[in-house]
Amino acid sequence: LSVAVLISGTGSNLRALLEAASEPGFPARIVAVGADRDADGLAHARDFGVPTFVVPFRDHPSREAWAEELGRRLDDIAPGLIVLSGLMRLLPPALVARWSPRILNTHPAYLPEFPGAHGVRDALAAGVSQTGASVIVVDDGVDTGPILAQERVPVLPDDTEDSLHARIKPVERRLLIDVVRRIATGELDLAAPAHT
Ligand code: GRF
Repeated sequence: LSVAVLISGTGSNLRALLEAASEPGFPARIVAVGADRDADGLAHARDFGVPTFVVPFRDHPSREAWAEELGRRLDDIAPGLIVLSGLMRLLPPALVARWSPRILNTHPAYLPEFPGAHGVRDALAAGVSQTGASVIVVDDGVDTGPILAQERVPVLPDDTEDSLHARIKPVERRLLIDVVRRIATGELDLAAPAHT
């Protein structure tokens, strides 16, 4: 299974996926890493010899124009699966429709709790004792797609957004790698995802 990963930030989850995919026997390979800006995380792809591309959001007059260029790049790559791993942009419905359900997103909360761009901060502000990590199929909503995997992560009394996010990310990475593996082996059918 060929996988294209899209990021915007540090790409620590991407790095975990690159490491897993470089293990002998892993049934998927990362064929490209793209970003909406010159993201630091692109360095991880270069470390693993994976081609990268950038479609700068700010170079385009609209989200739709940006997504059209991103869509052309993805069509050229023609991956079997797209993984959004810290891409901090909403994809317009046309792009989602082109790829769903073979497009996943990782989210640092226990969806449907705390969707959106600040899931960690929102959980902390809500004062909950546990939050989580989720891997979903991207649909037209904001973090509203079918849940493929999720796991609870405790919130500690002295947590900051950073310390809580740091506890969530390893769980996110483990869930993401396992979901990609199960899609690659056919164990998980994206057309009929059963939340395990
Ligand atoms: C991850 O927690 C992801 O779910 C969220 O942003 C974070 C990206 O972290 N959308 P990184 O860039 O993989 O370090």
